[in-house]
Amino acid sequence: MLYPELYTQLEKARWNMEADIPWDTFDGSLLSDEQAQTIKMNAITEWSALPATEMFLRDNRHDSDFSAFMSVWFYEEQKHALALMEYLRRFRPEYCPTEAELHAVRFEFDPAPPLETLMLHFCGEVRLTQWYRCASEWHTEPVIKAIYKHLSQDEARHGGCYLKYMKKAIVQHGDVARAAFAKIGLLMASSGRSAKPLHPTNLHVNEALFPNDTIQSRLPDPDWLEAWLTQQIRFDEPWEARVVGGILRNLSNLFEQPLETILQLNRYRKALAASVKETHVLPDPAI
Ligand SMILES: [Fe+2]
Ligand SMILES: [Fe+2]
Repeated sequence: MLYPELYTQLEKARWNMEADIPWDTFDGSLLSDEQAQTIKMNAITEWSALPATEMFLRDNRHDSDFSAFMSVWFYEEQKHALALMEYLRRFRPEYCPTEAELHAVRFEFDPAPPLETLMLHFCGEVRLTQWYRCASEWHTEPVIKAIYKHLSQDEARHGGCYLKYMKKAIVQHGDVARAAFAKIGLLMASSGRSAKPLHPTNLHVNEALFPNDTIQSRLPDPDWLEAWLTQQIRFDEPWEARVVGGILRNLSNLFEQPLETILQLNRYRKALAASVKETHVLPDPAI
């Protein structure tokens, strides 16, 4: 069981909202309205850990270890939303999300294969680590810079925790787990090539609610993410390369396979998919 060690590890790294954020260094001349608006959107996006947790708990009833870890993950993600909201409450209260705006991102996600969801969130944490690092550099106001730095470090730790559950899944499920991780890893690492970088918050998760079934589509400004990435924090190719590099490096270690390019990952995924199909082939009822 991983929960006890992960609890201890995250407890040691925990930062305190009151003591570890340098609130008294705030400089209002270094915060624009445009920046405050992006903080609001990030706060609501963080709040979506609530429906994600509901999904994780529903789809992992068979796994009490992972479900217990959700208590820590959920707490830390809601703390992220709260830290951003506390910043706005103190310094730009007119940008603070309303309870209705927060509640709008809570909706039922369709059931999904738990191993794929795990990998999706691992990649999401890797990506968010870099988005927040980049946001911390873009902002000039010292308090929000410090907040994004804390958030980025937390996201990196979350990625590390998910990776441990992925290792455990490989011990338990072998190639079935490897195939699920390679499939989603390929999807998430390739997304920089398309116009839309994939993250759990911009994936469609409820067929019946389409097209309003992504977290991003339910924000007060559904288009903010793209503008934030391309025009504001400028998450350009070198940043994207860190995300892809992070995913490939970790998968390489996990699979004990040299995977330096997306192409190599795709080849490995195809070989795995074929072997999983072969070993799980059902007897033909006609024979
Ligand atoms: Fe977060
Ligand atoms: Fe996270």
